[in-house]
Amino acid sequence: MARTTGQPHRPTPASASPAPAAASAPARVREESEGGPASSGTPTPVTGPAEGGPASSGKKRKKTRGRVTVPTAQAIRDAAELLRPVVRRTPLELSSRLSNRVEQAVYLKREDIQVCRSYKVRGAYTFIAALPEEARAKGVACASAGNHAQGVAFACRKLRIHGKVFLPATTPRQKRERIADIGGRWITQVIGGEAFDDAAQAAAEYSRESGATLVPPFDDAAIVAGQGTVALEILDQLPEPPHTIVVPVGGGGLLAGVALWVKTHAPATRVIGVEPEGAPSLRAALEAGRPVSLQNVESFVDGAAVRRVGSVPFDVVRDLVDAVVTVPEGAVCTEMLDLYQTEGIIAEPAGALATAALRGYLPEVPTGPVVCIVSGGNNDVSRYADVLERSLVHEGLRHYFLVTFPQQPGALRFFLEEVLAEGEDIVLFEYVKKNSRETGPALVGIDLAAASGLERLLQRMDGSPLKIEKLAPDSAVFEFLL
Ligand SMILES: Cc1ncc(COP(=O)(O)O)c(C=O)c1O
Repeated sequence: MARTTGQPHRPTPASASPAPAAASAPARVREESEGGPASSGTPTPVTGPAEGGPASSGKKRKKTRGRVTVPTAQAIRDAAELLRPVVRRTPLELSSRLSNRVEQAVYLKREDIQVCRSYKVRGAYTFIAALPEEARAKGVACASAGNHAQGVAFACRKLRIHGKVFLPATTPRQKRERIADIGGRWITQVIGGEAFDDAAQAAAEYSRESGATLVPPFDDAAIVAGQGTVALEILDQLPEPPHTIVVPVGGGGLLAGVALWVKTHAPATRVIGVEPEGAPSLRAALEAGRPVSLQNVESFVDGAAVRRVGSVPFDVVRDLVDAVVTVPEGAVCTEMLDLYQTEGIIAEPAGALATAALRGYLPEVPTGPVVCIVSGGNNDVSRYADVLERSLVHEGLRHYFLVTFPQQPGALRFFLEEVLAEGEDIVLFEYVKKNSRETGPALVGIDLAAASGLERLLQRMDGSPLKIEKLAPDSAVFEFLL
């Protein structure tokens, strides 16, 4: 929900675990795969002995078709070996803007410039590369319009495996073209219904009928291991472990991988998960003690707007993560603009979640270096108008009003001259003259030079004979505008 003022709030973090994982804490293992696209074939590389640390001491490992399904730190090390010649070891860069903001060194892990412009390729490649020969021959499938599909397409081309990507009919052409470019002749795109859920169902049906392996976006041990390689690189790239690592959360795959590696190798480092305010599926799962489906999801932070977190990631995250916080979508937009204007980084909304948390949403003030994972850079340029709008509203710089003008000459001039002041600009004016009525409402958008100017504007409005109603950012009209 967008906010009326630019004041960041500090939500109570949903504490995943009051104390960071004790090295002896066993990672609990789920009994059944719940929610999210299911994996129809769990590949092998997660079977190796764990190298110690939190997950390795788990005794209740569940085996699926003879394979261990719990992610381990050793699997992350194996995945890093596998991925070394395939993906980029992305840079870890100091951000002076964010360092000034939190008065600690803040580093950005630049997964926005990863192969396919997001970390998702790490998990997809790790999963597909581990498929045995007979599974490879039957091909793979996934349902995704975003970064996961690009990662799958990349892995299919590299490994010369046929893949089918199921997309909803609403997928923009630019995304289809990216997937086609990356996958070449190894990828076929299939329109699987109107909404994402239809595409997911079509992919699952196809997998059942054809024997193709479904590549899950997050709910799988090999996927978690691949994503965890981001953390392995971060600890390698710093002379000392950081105080805090901030990680964006959708289905929880990246957070689980990062937490597993960090709590094994740098247990004092705080691991914080960040969700968009409109899709707090991990917070809901932590409150319920198991993954649950959200009724409503605000889809703006696509990638992280997931209805239900994965069971495999949840079992890791519940035991190892220090806190999970939510950030309003408007703050994510302001952060996207700052990343673009100051660091020259094109971040997609989910890619800006972690750094957005530094705008007052962390559960505690960091007392040492901080690493934020900039997880993806696939932002469509056409989204920037929406991003700017949401940012202005969130910062309290743009407001909307219904102004009822008497239908008589001079009413508009009165509004402009007597109600508005210097630095208050009309950015939207929608008015339909109706001959049968004496008055007519207009929808008016006004930009302020500073958020603090709102009070004076409201006073002038109150003192005028015009009927003026301020639209609340969570009103239905507002949702129509944005
Ligand atoms: C750029 C980006 N960041 C974060 C996420 C969330 O990741 P996870 O589902 O592993 O929690 C995604 C998921 O697709 C993503 O594309």
